[in-house]
Amino acid sequence: MPSKILSANDPAHIQEAAGVLQRGGIVAFPTETVYGLGADALNPKAVARVFEVKKRPVFDPLIVHVASSEEAFSLWREVPKAAATLIKEFWPGPLTLVLSKTEKVPDIVTAGLPSVAVRMPGHPITLELIRSLGRPIAAPSANFFGYTSSTTAQAVAEDFGEGIDLILDGGPSSFGIESTVLKIEGECCVLLRPGAVTVEAIEKFVPVLQKEDEKDPAAVYESPGLLRSHYAPWTSLILTDKSFSDFLKELKAFQDLCHQKEIAWPRIGLLLLKGRRETQFFETVEVLSATGDLPEAASNLFQAIRKLDKMNLDLIVAERIQKSGLGLAIMDRLEKASAGQTALGPYFENLIQKHN
Ligand code: TXA
Ligand code: MG
Repeated sequence: MPSKILSANDPAHIQEAAGVLQRGGIVAFPTETVYGLGADALNPKAVARVFEVKKRPVFDPLIVHVASSEEAFSLWREVPKAAATLIKEFWPGPLTLVLSKTEKVPDIVTAGLPSVAVRMPGHPITLELIRSLGRPIAAPSANFFGYTSSTTAQAVAEDFGEGIDLILDGGPSSFGIESTVLKIEGECCVLLRPGAVTVEAIEKFVPVLQKEDEKDPAAVYESPGLLRSHYAPWTSLILTDKSFSDFLKELKAFQDLCHQKEIAWPRIGLLLLKGRRETQFFETVEVLSATGDLPEAASNLFQAIRKLDKMNLDLIVAERIQKSGLGLAIMDRLEKASAGQTALGPYFENLIQKHN
């Protein structure tokens, strides 16, 4: 039987979802960033089921969602000034803070780490759900481990089918990209994952240490979610490292070569930030925002990748964008979805070799 989907517009449905969580069940729920796959954070057995359903390795810790800053303070050993400042400025909202945990947090939630990631979501339905349960909710994004995140209840249902007890439908997530994850170290913070709150906005209040600032990245940026491949569709995705015109020239050369060798031209989907006329080489073109507006692009990103992935394409090619503002988080997702593939050459060499 497929998972039950209930509209979150009806308060009784939120109560029902809280009841499922109370009994140790797991519920997919909307947040302002992406959908989460939640369990009672203080029930280790329920949390274990989240790992199992998501096929998530047990070394990758979960974010704990709270409905007030006081609830967060009960999960952390201490709250440095930098954390208090960020909470005052950005909560409720898409900012997750990692700090030393108290005994209250079960080890399974943090994958045995001495720290716990906590956020207070800005979505009224999420807050209502946490308040109804009366306990924090541990939740990763509601997608199979390594696959593209879900920004609608339908995307969650496509992934998990009958695997979860209930899906609460609150419509599409407004940000469409996950929270920013910061590890607080004294009065400084380290960016573990760029997300919906930009580094520029955070730096108005607290200095942010980023990967490229650090001599020994491995030492500081030890966040288990920072794997090279993540958010990835099944279809191979290349994030071109060329200018768009050079990329088209290269495609044209490969098209000529395929023509010469009588190799059928592959079905390629193009993922663009802004509207462009180019269609000659592509089966389909997905534009994230007609005007190149970054918040709009972020909110469409995962849905666009999922749509392309359902089209039975041979290849998806995405355009590189500037890594500033929300562009940093969008590029992070695209870089991981491509698992570092930036060149067309290997794809076409393989295609030609198969033909020979
Ligand atoms: O917007 C979001 O953050 C969404 C919604 C549902 O709240 N959640 C989400 O969860 O994206 P997930 O599990 O997909 O990503 C959590 C990230 C992972 O990269 C994980 O490794 C990192 O946070 N993380 C969690 N706890 C950590 C900890 N104690 N230390 C370092 N990194 C941690
Ligand atoms: Mg995720």
